[in-house]
Parts: sequence; C-alpha cells; structure tokens
Amino acid sequence: MANNVNRVALIGTGFVGSSYAFALLNQGVTEELVLIDLNKEKSEGDAMDLNHGLAFAPSSTKIWYGSYDDCKTADLVVLCAGANQKPGETRLDLVAKNLKIFKAIVTDVMESGFDGIFIVATNPVDILSYAVWKYSGLPQSRVIGSGTILDTARFRYLIGEHFKVDTRNVHAYIIGEHGDTELPVWSHADIGGLPILDSITDEKEKLDEIFVNVRDAAYHIINRKGATYYGIAMGLVRLTKAILQNENSILTVSCYLAGEYGEDDVYIGVPAIVNRNGVHKVIELRLNEQEKKQFAHSASVLKETMDPFFK
Ligand code: 2OP
Repeated sequence: MANNVNRVALIGTGFVGSSYAFALLNQGVTEELVLIDLNKEKSEGDAMDLNHGLAFAPSSTKIWYGSYDDCKTADLVVLCAGANQKPGETRLDLVAKNLKIFKAIVTDVMESGFDGIFIVATNPVDILSYAVWKYSGLPQSRVIGSGTILDTARFRYLIGEHFKVDTRNVHAYIIGEHGDTELPVWSHADIGGLPILDSITDEKEKLDEIFVNVRDAAYHIINRKGATYYGIAMGLVRLTKAILQNENSILTVSCYLAGEYGEDDVYIGVPAIVNRNGVHKVIELRLNEQEKKQFAHSASVLKETMDPFFK
C-alpha cells in the first residue's frame, strides 16, 4: 500500500545506485528516498552526503538509510545491488552470482509487504528482471528492467554526433538483450522525421560502426574506469519519472513478452509505454527480415542462458 507521498527505495548503493540517488535528488523526482545496502556504513554515508546537497536541490527530498521494512510503503523499489562486470567479463557471466543475491533481496522486500513497482538495473538485466517477476509474484507490468534504455541513449548520442543534430531530435531504438546480442532498429530510425536509411545509404559502414560502438560501449568504459554508472543512473531517473509522473512515455525497457515479436516467457528490451502502473503496453515495431532474425537470436540467447535456472 503506497504512502501519500512518493517513496523510492534504492537497494544497492554502489557506483550505479549512488549515482542514481544523486541524479534523482538533482532532478527533484521523489519526496522520499531510502537507501538500503548490506554495507550500512556506505549507505549511511551516502545519505549524509546527499542530505548536505539538499540546500541546492530543486525541491525537498527526505533521504535516509534504512532497511527492508521501509519498502512496505514504497512506490518503487530500484534494484542496483549485485556484482558488476570486471574487464573481460560479459553481462551474462554474472547470471549465477546475481540470481542468488536477487533471490534473497526480493524475498526480503516482499516480506515487508511491498506492493509497488520494481525497477531492475543489475546485469544481466533481462534475466534478473524475469527472476524478480518470478520471485516476487507481482504482475509482469510491475517488474521493469532498464533494458536497452541506455543503449538507445548511446545510439541517439552517436547518431546525433555524426549528423551534428541534437540527440533529442534523433528517434532510434536499440532493442533485444542489454548485451552482446542487442540490435539497432535502422528500419525505424529517423532524424526529425527523415528516415536515416533513405538519406544516407552510401554511409552503411559508418552506420555499422556507430552500432558497434553502442554495443561495445560498456566494455570501452569498463576498460578505462572499471565501471559505468552516470549514463545508466540518468536512464533510471528517466524511467522513475515516467512511472511516478504517470507520463505514458515510450522507453526501451526490459519487459515481459507474451507473444509480441513472436516471443513469449522472456524479459527483453523493447519500446513500451510506461506509466504509474508500470508497463502499460509493449510497442510492437514492424521489423524488417534481418531485424526479426536478430531479435529472435537475442531472445534465444537469453532463454538458453536462463533456462537452467528456471526449468
Ligand atoms: C552498461 O551498459 C555495464 O550494463 C552496463 O553500461
């Protein structure tokens, strides 16, 4: 049962979680933010540090470090806990480790009486979103993974840079696994209404290069600084706003497919309408033949990876 003010409970105050908390405070998105982490000192320190920024924030947010009991009246529980990729590791390499951590966390959250919406950010995000849905017993619409929200942002940024256009005027999606099998939907990519494929068919190699840089962006960043966190944190804030402010925004999130795109029983990144109730509707793009094949491959890799844990 929700409070009469918006409460976000953040679980995991590592690099991603604490960057998310910072971005949330800066954008004044929620009235209450509770930080929960196994490392109580870290979350207590984060709460103190963030509270010292309140005087400079756009609106007031009550921030404290807390426990799973505080999830009871939370509108959103945002899961950023777990192991992250080391240089050379893929997101899928983290599956066994993070499933175990998630089973314990989700059990504790549900025992508090939580009845809101989960946002999942930890990798492999598609499989962990499926796991949270299974472990929580909540409706699919109320378990949302960050999916390819960040990959889509990276894609729009690189396209915008190349064509020298504001990234916000680029409309293009990355869909599929948030990971090595994701794909660009070039057939629906446009800048201000002009289809990219129509205008620049002679730049095919450049387009491929843009996509490869999107797909491999996390590896490039992890090799340089050990982790990625600012981009995903801002993507999570965007998703939080879409939910709490009932925006009906279209975002590429990881959601449950029940026949859409010819797939079922899988969480995977696709554009979806997001509002106060969670995922309101999956947008089913008309993919071309190559994109259909790539999407099916991506879904099958996710299913093969998670089957041993769920069948
Ligand atoms: C990212 O794409 C590692 O999933 C994280 O930045």
